[in-house]
Amino acid sequence: MKIKFILPLFAIAVMFALVSFTNFSEPQYNDIEDVVAIDIPDNIQAIISNKCMGCHSDEAKGGKSKMKLNFDNISNGEYSRGKVISKLDKMVKMLGKDKMPPEKFLAKYPEKKLTSEESELITNWASEQSSLMKGE
Ligand code: HEC
Repeated sequence: MKIKFILPLFAIAVMFALVSFTNFSEPQYNDIEDVVAIDIPDNIQAIISNKCMGCHSDEAKGGKSKMKLNFDNISNGEYSRGKVISKLDKMVKMLGKDKMPPEKFLAKYPEKKLTSEESELITNWASEQSSLMKGE
């Protein structure tokens, strides 16, 4: 008899856990739908074109990297404001952990590694741009 009550309760608990976990990992600004085109400053654009856009642009061959982040979409206004904010924040996170460009790729093309100065420039720009867009 008891199991009949416990099972649905357990199922509901699991659902709640999943929903809250999803909310937690989703970008916080997804509800901001208006579309913005961002002027990426020339010095930042130069680094990104050279070291990131081989994978993260309209012309990129890779499916996943392009789907996750396309710098052309940022400057052409094809991402919502919320999406741009979350991509900027992810850039800061990824670069802080030295995760981009990916290690495997750098093993083949070491010249694509960001110098610490380049990494700092992109990080500072992305975090300032993100704060600006959040109205902070
Ligand atoms: C060799 C291809 C390649 C290069 C070059 C590259 N990336 Fe990536 N990037 C990827 C792939 C693949 C993913 C998806 C990783 C995943 O989700 O498993 C990714 C994901 C990301 C993400 C996370 C996006 C999201 O929404 O999850 C950010 C931010 C990012 N890259 C920034 C950069 C920056 C900045 C550079 C240049 C300094 C760069 N990447 C260069 C392949 C690349």
